[in-house]
Amino acid sequence: MTRKTTGIPGLDSMLQNGFPFPSAVLIAGEPGTGKTTLAVQTLFHGAKEGEKGLYITAISEPQWLVQKFLGSFSFYDQEMVEKGMINFIDLGPSIIKNPSDMLDMIKKKIEQCQPERIVIDPITPMTDLLQWRGETREFMHELFAYLKAFNSLAIITSEMSYDDISHSQESYMVDGVIVLSYPEEEKVRRKFLEVLKMRGTKHTTGRQLIDITDDGLAVQAGLR
Ligand SMILES: Nc1ncnc2c1ncn2[C@@H]1O[C@H](COP(=O)(O)OP(=O)(O)OP(=O)(O)O)[C@@H](O)[C@H]1O
Ligand SMILES: [Mg+2]
Repeated sequence: MTRKTTGIPGLDSMLQNGFPFPSAVLIAGEPGTGKTTLAVQTLFHGAKEGEKGLYITAISEPQWLVQKFLGSFSFYDQEMVEKGMINFIDLGPSIIKNPSDMLDMIKKKIEQCQPERIVIDPITPMTDLLQWRGETREFMHELFAYLKAFNSLAIITSEMSYDDISHSQESYMVDGVIVLSYPEEEKVRRKFLEVLKMRGTKHTTGRQLIDITDDGLAVQAGLR
C-alpha cells in the first residue's frame, strides 16, 4: 500500500508510516483541539516533498484569518504559498446564497489546482447549510466519493465531540478517523490524539498525549 507521511512527529509510527494513499481522513474534535494545525501542518509537509496542497474553507473562518494564525507556526512557509505549492481558498459568502452549488464549486477548485493533498476545514458549516434541505447525506456521500476517486490524500475536519463521532455519518464514509480532545481530568486539561480507525492498516489504539507549540502539533515523545 502506498503511504504518505504526515509531518506530525510521532503520528507516522502510530500509522505504520503514514496515511494510506489515496484516502479520506476525518479529523474530529471540539473547538481549539488542534484540527486546523494538524491539517495544515500535513499540507506544508507534503509541499516540501513536492506535493501540491489545497486548503478549502467556507465562511466560518475567512482564509486570511486562517493564514494569519498559521503564519506564527514554524512549518508555515510563505514561499510555498507564493509559488502556488499551497493554495488557500475561501468559498466565501456565495455558498450561503447557493448551498446546492457547493459540491460543484469544490470540484472546480480541485480540478483547477490538481492537488495531491486536500484539506476541507471544517466541513461542519457546509453540512449545516444543507441540513434544512435534507441534502447533507447526499453531499457528503458525493464529496467523499469524488475525493477518493481523485487519487489524493483528503483531510476533512469536523467540529464534533467524542460522543458525536460514533453515530456521525461522516465517520462511516471515510477511510480513517482521528479524534482530538482535551478532557478535564483532576482539574488539568491536556490534549490528546486518538486514531479511531484507519482502513487497511494496523494502528496504535488509545489516546496519546499531544503538544501544540510554535512548531505545530506533535505526539509526545516517550509515548510514541
Ligand atoms: N504557538 C502555540 N503554542 C502552543 N499552543 C498553541 C500555539 N498555537 C496554537 N496553540 C493551541 O492550539 C489551539 C488552536 O488549534 P487549532 O486552531 O488548530 O484548533 P481547531 O481544532 O482547528 O479549532 P477550531 O475548532 O476553533 O477551528 C489553540 O487553542 C491553542 O490552544
Ligand atoms: Mg480550526
